[in-house]
Amino acid sequence: MAIDPKIQAAINQQINHEMTAAYNYLAMVVYFDQINLSGFAFWMRKQHEEELAHASKLFQYLSDRGGTVELQAIPKPSAQFDSVAHVFQAALAMEQANTASINSVYALAKEINDYATLSHLQWFLDEQVEEEKTMEETLGLIRFAADDKSALLTLNNQMANRPTEPDTTDA
Ligand SMILES: [Fe+2]
Ligand SMILES: [Fe+2]
Repeated sequence: MAIDPKIQAAINQQINHEMTAAYNYLAMVVYFDQINLSGFAFWMRKQHEEELAHASKLFQYLSDRGGTVELQAIPKPSAQFDSVAHVFQAALAMEQANTASINSVYALAKEINDYATLSHLQWFLDEQVEEEKTMEETLGLIRFAADDKSALLTLNNQMANRPTEPDTTDA
């Protein structure tokens, strides 16, 4: 069944959201590089790559459904951060906004009984639960460390151990 033009537009917008998130995480890599927190920089680079993979997954889905991918402009990311906590607050807010965005695509697919899209979006809903949880937990640890620089450095070392996610594009 040909994909509904409204769903196609919503998925194209979601591709842009994922690319925008990827770009914002890359700006966070820049910040962490500048303050020499290489573990956080490494972690954020993985996060950047994950968001690229999300965009790619939606790209593939739209293409598989015979839809037309329309790439849109990616806004310039905010690169002004005052602290490590500030970065993770911004990351959490971005993930919460992305969850709302995926929910709205889901609601639209539900409205028009596009079961294939609902099925595909299930993975994204689960992923968003993980993403928000990770950002909240990390923000909690950063706040717990507060002004204790050695605690922050320990956390920085732990962030460097983030494993590479398995390739989800075939999932
Ligand atoms: Fe994402
Ligand atoms: Fe994300």
